Amino acid sequence: MGQELHKIERMYDTVAKEYAATFSGEHEKKPKDQEILRRFAAEIGNRKPVWDFGCGPGQTSKYLKNLGVEISGLDLSEKILEQARAIHPEINFSKGNILDLQFDDDSIAGIAAFYAIVHFTEEQVETAFREAFRVLQPGGLFLFTYHIGEDTIHVKEFLGKKISIDFMFFNTDFIYGRLQKSGFEEIAIIEREPYPGVEYESRRAYAFAKKPRVQ
Ligand SMILES: C[S@@+](CC[C@H](N)C(=O)[O-])C[C@H]1O[C@@H](n2cnc3c(N)ncnc32)[C@H](O)[C@@H]1O
Repeated sequence: MGQELHKIERMYDTVAKEYAATFSGEHEKKPKDQEILRRFAAEIGNRKPVWDFGCGPGQTSKYLKNLGVEISGLDLSEKILEQARAIHPEINFSKGNILDLQFDDDSIAGIAAFYAIVHFTEEQVETAFREAFRVLQPGGLFLFTYHIGEDTIHVKEFLGKKISIDFMFFNTDFIYGRLQKSGFEEIAIIEREPYPGVEYESRRAYAFAKKPRVQ
């Protein structure tokens, strides 16, 4: 069984304002994020549409838009979407569920999903990969990030608010294997150490994967 979506939604509704205040503009403090997002934007070129899944307050959408990517954001939490729309009125943000996407097959050129899988069980991660693969165009590019590890951490307080949610860590062998199983190719996973004082001190990974041009 997966983590219940209404719990995830309620938690981000609860911390929406504080989350936006804390994480908006975070890429400015993380050189590796910037390098990876530039690589993503360069590979996408002028292809569209591109979506930021689990966009939160829209900092990744904004960074990619500034690089010339035609991007929209999708999230489960209406309150965090309100923050995203207020901060970035020039970007389209919509409500949706990564595990049950309302997009046609083969319709999206690129997906970025920064820390969007952090509340998913392994089974939900598989569903998310299957859905991303389904909606990507042949040759479409998937970029996502995760915390590296084996643990699940139960968190009762976040950004000064009482909540109850699990944060999941994943090892790279698991992620690589599930991407392959979902049909992705050209998988490249880049791991890094945390930036002390800037972020929660977990090791991080950026995963690139492509849907094959010919299937
Ligand atoms: C850890 S936050 C990351 C937000 C932002 N991408 C960032 O890097 O700060 C996870 C985000 O994913 C969203 N999310 C979680 N599960 C989702 C789902 N099933 N469908 C859509 N969004 C989801 C949450 O509402 C939250 O905004």
